[in-house]
Amino acid sequence: MTAAPGPPRPDRLLRTIARAAAGAAVVAARGGVRLPRPVDRDLKVVVAELTAEAPDAVGLRLARPDGAPLPPWRPGAHLDVLLPSGRLRQYSLCGDPADRTAYRVAVRRIDAGQGGSLEVHGLLPGTRLVVRGPRNAFPFVVAPAYLFLAGGIGITPIAPMVRAAAARGADWRLVHTGRDLASLPLSERLAGLDPARVIRRADDVHGGVPTAAELLADLPAGAAVYCCGPPAMIDAVRRAVPDGHGFHAERFSPPPVRGGRPFTVRLGHGGPVVEVPADRSALAAVRDVVPDLAYSCQQGFCGTCHVPLLAGATEQDTSAPGRMALCVARARDATPLVVDLGRHVEPCGGSTSPPSSHKVP
Ligand code: FES
Repeated sequence: MTAAPGPPRPDRLLRTIARAAAGAAVVAARGGVRLPRPVDRDLKVVVAELTAEAPDAVGLRLARPDGAPLPPWRPGAHLDVLLPSGRLRQYSLCGDPADRTAYRVAVRRIDAGQGGSLEVHGLLPGTRLVVRGPRNAFPFVVAPAYLFLAGGIGITPIAPMVRAAAARGADWRLVHTGRDLASLPLSERLAGLDPARVIRRADDVHGGVPTAAELLADLPAGAAVYCCGPPAMIDAVRRAVPDGHGFHAERFSPPPVRGGRPFTVRLGHGGPVVEVPADRSALAAVRDVVPDLAYSCQQGFCGTCHVPLLAGATEQDTSAPGRMALCVARARDATPLVVDLGRHVEPCGGSTSPPSSHKVP
């Protein structure tokens, strides 16, 4: 894969930020942006309002039950939302950072998904939830100009950035793509900032999905390119962004494992050994043996799959020292890793402890 021009690739940037989260304040590798101090606090919120943002997208307004102000956040931040079932999901904040009375998220219903979005769509006003964060793995840098590219519900982290760029008086442009106009949440309101700067592009009108060249047409000089959408869109744009432009992306799904080496993970001293192939994560391989093992983001930042590392050394690890992020970390050398899953795992794959409440079914 062709590397994105300019500074480190976003996937690596994201891991860097997540690793830094184990320390004190976080400073993004690009643009010198200072991010909010990462927090693992649990915040109790209530679903204050539900809105239809598109035929298959619901907006949630989450407020504190007592109406107290919520912790601050910056464009690009997301919340970890613990749903009543125990599922943990990450949703980008799409509201106004200046509004401390509520967090806003928007969630597209995915009928063939793992159930999280269906559960969100079934929530009622007054439902109490626990959220963690906000955390920011998609920092908004200062630039003279911006090109924002959003695919469908990928508009959610982009929307606060658009408002911030407009407030700064920057030169900006938004291209929001989707199968039809009805599938494009939030951007109709953003067009109210300046209709000439917003393109809402529907595939059914334009004869299919846009090419990267089409998305990058009329790229302002020196513009930072922000992209959030399906992996194919991000990969195509990443390859096509010309030199001299910062490229920043957030994916809907975990990146594929590329260039990995096989290694082994032992599940506790004396436990079964799991072979991790070059093209799979340790999380995926371990889940073959322990299917109910908890995970969520699969990109290293939510912490759900971080487990104690009892032996061996890792690389590409986003967890704290002495721990391993199973979804992204790999063995640094040929020494087998030994991790503690907090339960006894039989060699045949049986588990004698109850599953985590954060399991994704
Ligand atoms: S850190 Fe989120 S699933 Fe691994």
